[in-house]
Amino acid sequence: MTKYVIQGGRRLHGQVAVSSAKNAAVAILAGTALTEGLCVIDNLPRISDITVQLEILRRLGARIRMLNANAMEIDCSRLRSSKVLDDELARQNRASYYFIGSLLGRYKTSQVCMPGGCNLGVRAIDQHIKGFEALGANISTKNGCVVAEAPAGLRGAHIYLDMPSVGATINIMLAAVRAQGMTYIENPAKEPHVVDLANFLNTCGADVRGAGTDVIKIRGVRTLHGCNYSIIPDQIEAGTYIAAVAACGGEITVNNVIPKHLDCFATKFTEMGVEITDLGDAVFVKRVKSLSRANFKTLPYPGFPTDMQAPAVAVLSIADGTSIINETIFSSRFRYVDELRRMGARIQADGQIAIVEGVLCLTGAKIHACDLRAGAALVIAGLAASGITEISGIAHIERGYELFVEKLRNLGADIRREEYPDIEDIEGINA
Ligand code: EPU
Repeated sequence: MTKYVIQGGRRLHGQVAVSSAKNAAVAILAGTALTEGLCVIDNLPRISDITVQLEILRRLGARIRMLNANAMEIDCSRLRSSKVLDDELARQNRASYYFIGSLLGRYKTSQVCMPGGCNLGVRAIDQHIKGFEALGANISTKNGCVVAEAPAGLRGAHIYLDMPSVGATINIMLAAVRAQGMTYIENPAKEPHVVDLANFLNTCGADVRGAGTDVIKIRGVRTLHGCNYSIIPDQIEAGTYIAAVAACGGEITVNNVIPKHLDCFATKFTEMGVEITDLGDAVFVKRVKSLSRANFKTLPYPGFPTDMQAPAVAVLSIADGTSIINETIFSSRFRYVDELRRMGARIQADGQIAIVEGVLCLTGAKIHACDLRAGAALVIAGLAASGITEISGIAHIERGYELFVEKLRNLGADIRREEYPDIEDIEGINA
């Protein structure tokens, strides 16, 4: 097993380049299954969620050629199957369920085992199913898989989402681009990765308009061709480095960002005491004063993103004053708070509210990452704490952050990966 070992207390300085957006990349890879031609995706992050999507494509019969460490040529012209049969594989990430939409769009039938992803409480998929049914598919569950069948084909429909679900918007879009006629998705998610998927699909010959607004309008087309595509930068990765500077002090330049995509949390970090300067395709980030308290509520884009909640709480745990955080997107996204308390944080979480009483300093401890963004928050806490922090469960973190340790080390952080024995490997234990 591998853990991160961090000697905290160093200010951060220098430059970091953000990778492309995980949540756009996983959707676009599922989208390549709709195409009959060569897709070249040139800036895929090397993270395990991407490896899973590529492996699913490979098992479906896609021919994949690595052009360089971050570029893949994907040929889905002769997929062998519309079934993602492997339960083990589908469970490795959340985005495996985007193949329900893309395979249904292409073959009018798909069978995909239930996905995994971070445990953030209930993660229902009723809105995805409502959308597929509106398009004319019959949906059932068999042996742990969602089976979608539309023998008479898919027909465009008006679909109103009960909440602006990212997953449902993407899945319905994937199915609808090859349905007959017009589909309208009302109250869709507006996140930048939803817009990026629409742009990718349009580059492949789809007709999707209005992504990023209150209604997405999709005119179905018969076929999609391949294309060359570059994925947008990851706003949450950028935000994680901003949070790290907020917690540790220092000044860094975060390169390869779309500053507009950072507005949803940048103003909150400014309130806390961080100056963020727009440099066009980069931001200069500097902590200019001691950290102040701040309240926030997570909301769908352009509100404060739930994925930045834990990193921001790590910062507020050492801010001056008491902050109130309301998590409105997921039912259980404060599980990491117990780990921060081991480091001396004073946080009370009850349901979807957390009250964070800032302390002067956190102290290093042995802690465990329970999900991706929680893990990032613990790294930030460890970087700011006095003494040594050891973080296990880092596979969660490496599902979403490319070269996290290397990038932080370049900024002057004292963090390293270290192997440690599995409990079963220790002599005398387990037999
Ligand atoms: N919901 C339903 N029914 C549905 C779909 C969603 O009730 O059919 C509820 C969920 O239970 C949840 C809320 O709506 O309470 C939001 O869910 P949403 O569908 O928007 O989230 P998701 O698609 O499951 C994606 C990201 C998450 C990110 C959320 C919110 C991917 C692969 N995952 O999840 O990313 O937190 O949107 O922005 O895109 C991460 O990157 O760490 C991560 C967890």
